[in-house]
Amino acid sequence: MVALSTLAKGLPVLASCAMAAASYPSKPADLSTPTQQRIAVNGPNSISIGWNTYTQLSQPCVQYGTSSNGLTSQACSTSSVTYATSRTWSNSVTLTGLAPATTYYYKIVSTNSSVEHFFSPRPAGDKTPFTMNAVIDLGVYGADGYTIQMDQTKRDTIPFVPPSLNHTTIDRLAQTVDDYELVVHPGDFAYADDWYLAPKNLFDGTNAYEAILEQFYDQLAPIAGRKAYMASPGNHEADCEELDYTTGLCPAGQKNFTDFMNRFGQTMPTAFPSTSTSSAAKVDANKAQVLANPPFWYSFEYGMVHVVMIDTETDFPDAPDGPGGSAGLDGGPFGALNQQLEFLEADLASVDRTVTPWLIVGGHRPWYSTGGSSNVCAPCQAAFEPLLYKYGVDLGIFGHVHNSQRFQPAYNGVADPNGLNNPKAPMYIVAGGAGNIEGLSSVGSNVTFNAFAYDQDFGYATITFQDANHLQVQFIRSSTGAVLDTSTLYKTHTQQFVVQE
Ligand SMILES: *[C@@H]1O[C@H](CO)[C@@H](O)[C@H](O)[C@H]1NC(C)=O
Ligand SMILES: *[C@@H]1O[C@H](CO)[C@@H](O)[C@H](O)[C@H]1NC(C)=O
Ligand SMILES: *[C@@H]1O[C@H](CO)[C@@H](O)[C@H](O)[C@H]1NC(C)=O
Ligand SMILES: *[C@@H]1O[C@H](CO)[C@@H](O)[C@H](O)[C@H]1NC(C)=O
Repeated sequence: MVALSTLAKGLPVLASCAMAAASYPSKPADLSTPTQQRIAVNGPNSISIGWNTYTQLSQPCVQYGTSSNGLTSQACSTSSVTYATSRTWSNSVTLTGLAPATTYYYKIVSTNSSVEHFFSPRPAGDKTPFTMNAVIDLGVYGADGYTIQMDQTKRDTIPFVPPSLNHTTIDRLAQTVDDYELVVHPGDFAYADDWYLAPKNLFDGTNAYEAILEQFYDQLAPIAGRKAYMASPGNHEADCEELDYTTGLCPAGQKNFTDFMNRFGQTMPTAFPSTSTSSAAKVDANKAQVLANPPFWYSFEYGMVHVVMIDTETDFPDAPDGPGGSAGLDGGPFGALNQQLEFLEADLASVDRTVTPWLIVGGHRPWYSTGGSSNVCAPCQAAFEPLLYKYGVDLGIFGHVHNSQRFQPAYNGVADPNGLNNPKAPMYIVAGGAGNIEGLSSVGSNVTFNAFAYDQDFGYATITFQDANHLQVQFIRSSTGAVLDTSTLYKTHTQQFVVQE
């Protein structure tokens, strides 16, 4: 969401004055120490590992194996990238040929690193139930971000998260770490572009922006370094500050989604080859793979689900963050004309429901939200909604509005008469309440087919694939773990390929 003020509009000029105030984490003496670890599903039987270091690595490497004292395999790359204003380099290595659904141990090669673990991806078609969390609009916690004053209660410390993160969404994700297998985060990480909301940062915006990114991704590492953490862009990734038409004042390196691209460009997947018996599906999946453009738009398969991540910021007609777009953020385009929409159509068309019965799309800006027209993205709806309906997408996961919302399945603003009982239209949620410096958005005016809306505390959604026909969505209150809302979508999934007009 947008936090504009006339006061803030004057700040970019001040930002050039040098007066160090940014809260950088301390630099480790051993510059090869891995920080900001994050992993992702990178293909069938493949996990990518990303991390940052305070020096460039000539050859980033990861050792791994299926026991903690037998890291018998090693994978390396030459991918260690940075940009003008960053203190760190983003490194990435991809591990391939992993046994499916297996606990692996890994150690990023460094004179100062420890053994961590992850669970390798379930192969497409594995019908084992599992949960995927949706966490959106999550910002840095602490002096440069948000804080919560609440009672502290006893909790586990596995994985370890700093005590100062008590009762945040990250803390809840740590406490429940055995309850989910991966996380999707379609947009708005850190809120580095909101540096000017903390008065101490006013005279050193360039460093404050980088300091917030370093802090945030360190805070997220206990989760993102263990669970596949799938990222796509939001408006807060665009440039140095979310103020209309000031992009030109941003320093080189802090515009055009640069940090986001450096951080996730090598670790997100493209699209998987199809395992369908249909040759048309294989052709479509290959086409999608060519047209995919991670970390902006891509797809992956995991057990019973095919997930497509889309870019609601750039690369479609009237994209809000594109050149001349309504947000004035002047980002992209990142692909050729129509590339994203051609990718989306080929990708959705390739989904064989006998392999992956569930089809989910994740994006940042919603087209269904309470709170009036300023909360919804009309160009997004025009570009994407017809394709989601045509190919029978089951669930759309969005954020951008900072609260928790669930809608009855709907198409073109009209609720599906079947409700949750085998609808043709996608069901939609907004899971934008994870917590950030801008705070929560009030629910505001209703939409008739809204089924649940909550704006009293931070939260996120869990999506449980129970079997080929039942998908349960719950909203969790981060501070207490309380379940705020539960719904179960039933789909027969009898058609191998869904195409509906
Ligand atoms: C080693 O890494 C830990 C964190 O993982 C850090 O606290 C410590 O400062 C590092 N040591 C050196 C010598 O850089
Ligand atoms: C929670 O945070 C408080 C304040 O930072 C701290 O005193 C307490 O030890 C933390 N609790 C746990 C279990 O880490
Ligand atoms: C943003 O980056 C993309 C890819 O590098 C480039 O094609 C595009 O022109 C850039 N946009 C702006 C406004 O600089
Ligand atoms: C919106 O209206 C629907 C239908 O009357 C109702 O079920 C839902 O609870 C309302 N949502 C909010 C947030 O008031």
